[in-house]
Amino acid sequence: MKKYLILISLLFTSLFITPDTYEDEVRKRLGLLKDLPVVAMLGMSADESDGPVGRSGEAVYNQGCAACHTAGLAGAPMFASLDQWTDRTSKGLEVLTANAYNGYNAMPAKGMCIDCSQLEIERSVQYMLDALTVTE
Ligand code: HEC
Repeated sequence: MKKYLILISLLFTSLFITPDTYEDEVRKRLGLLKDLPVVAMLGMSADESDGPVGRSGEAVYNQGCAACHTAGLAGAPMFASLDQWTDRTSKGLEVLTANAYNGYNAMPAKGMCIDCSQLEIERSVQYMLDALTVTE
């Protein structure tokens, strides 16, 4: 009799574990937001990703930096303007990234990309630096 009980309880638990797909499981853990596709919940679309860890420099720039740096808002050094960047490029990628990530005077921490990782900020700074050498 005991054996049967164990068998039945095993059957029951397997019923509860098996039917979910991976996506269902992720949805459950993210709080049952059933209408949203999983990629949207992870905060990144497949198109924008650059390898396994986050967005490309261009994607981050367009989303989080262009608002100020394209037009030179609030004294932001303008995109692709070598004149406005000369005193800054000498600081090097590491310092510029740290300043963009932590904030620097009127430059808000991470710009408009509040969920950006340090690596993503570094890529966007690199993207801005690349524009200086490409266009001038
Ligand atoms: C709200 C406007 C605004 C946004 C958005 C913004 N910036 Fe800036 N940024 C500024 C301003 C203003 C400065 C000039 C600060 C200064 O030198 O006093 C600046 C300066 C910088 C500098 C130079 C820092 C230095 O040490 O000289 C870098 C690098 C930079 N921004 C990167 C970024 C990146 C990367 C993003 C997007 C993730 C971004 N910024 C978004 C306003 C902005």
